[in-house]
Amino acid sequence: MTHPRLYIPGPTEVAPDVLAAQTRPLVGHRSAEFSDLFYGIAAKLKCILQTEQNVFILTASGSGLQEAAVRNAVRPGRKILNVAAGAFGDRWQKIAVGNGCESVRVDLDWGQPVRPEDVDRHLAAGGFDAVTIVHNETSTAVMSDVAAIAELVRARYPDVLILVDAVSSAGGAPIHFDDWGLDLLLTSSQKALALPPGLAFAAASDRFLAQAAEVPHRGWYFDLVLLDKYFRDGRTTPATPAIGLLYAADCQFDRILAEGMEARWARHQACMTMTHAWAHEHGFELFAARGYESRTVTCIRNNVSIDIPAMIKHARSKGMVIGNGYGQLKNQAFRIAHMGELTEADMAELFGVLDDYLAI
Ligand SMILES: Cc1ncc(COP(=O)(O)O)c(C=O)c1O
Repeated sequence: MTHPRLYIPGPTEVAPDVLAAQTRPLVGHRSAEFSDLFYGIAAKLKCILQTEQNVFILTASGSGLQEAAVRNAVRPGRKILNVAAGAFGDRWQKIAVGNGCESVRVDLDWGQPVRPEDVDRHLAAGGFDAVTIVHNETSTAVMSDVAAIAELVRARYPDVLILVDAVSSAGGAPIHFDDWGLDLLLTSSQKALALPPGLAFAAASDRFLAQAAEVPHRGWYFDLVLLDKYFRDGRTTPATPAIGLLYAADCQFDRILAEGMEARWARHQACMTMTHAWAHEHGFELFAARGYESRTVTCIRNNVSIDIPAMIKHARSKGMVIGNGYGQLKNQAFRIAHMGELTEADMAELFGVLDDYLAI
């Protein structure tokens, strides 16, 4: 059966053997077989996120782990800084407020990255337990320099936890959790990791877990201290996990590590470069501030006034799905994802189809 190929920023294409892995017969989640599966995935996840610290594998989408992050990081009477430059920065703040945190929100123009000075200016007021950053703002296709932000925070505000949403970058762009000195980094299964939706993954520093232990009401399902205790005691996870999805994760993580992280990041970059070249060839401008273009998705400004819904429809009729602009950018921009399993050959095929449309 053919299916429309996904060039949207999630969910993304999943390899047939990874899809098939989900249909393996189930095992009990208290069995030795499951334990081997779970700890095996955790070891592979550490390589993918480049960490030797703590990792979490949760049955939830990425937003669930965002909820876990804020709930576990912020102690009573302390504040959280939420820096938003798009729809997903906004989500961090909504989740913080929804969980009763006292949030200070900074709004930057859409299309701009979060810069170290944006964080510095506000953390200087004091009283913060954490700052939230979106590494790859999927709504604008802007990638912030998380390493530079973390360097600033570590140097000037060593007690502030750095919480990073890498939902649409992990697996497609360089992430060095330990080297960058981050405290929590989370991602979803259905983006550059090229898995079906339903799993969320995170790395967390020892410092993060020590602070979480001082937070009185962490909930239960998303209590990272409890989850860490189960993990360390060899009891995998307190609640029943999505075992079928974990079979898929095990298979896909093997594929990712066989490709190699550097090679995978380079493939994403090559697809990004092709996408930029195609856009410029047709007179389009990119939405992202120069130098901060996302490696996994490109947001293209409709400065030449094409009929975006008609182009999307044309692509769909040829078996390819691209995205309109997100929220307020609908019909003012469109997005082409180059994340997950897509190759340069896949991108060339898409651009052939879009070229045909633009020549009409
Ligand atoms: C940057 C970013 N953060 C968070 C989310 C939410 O992730 P999920 O849909 O897995 O909950 C998304 C989803 O598109 C995203 O792109």
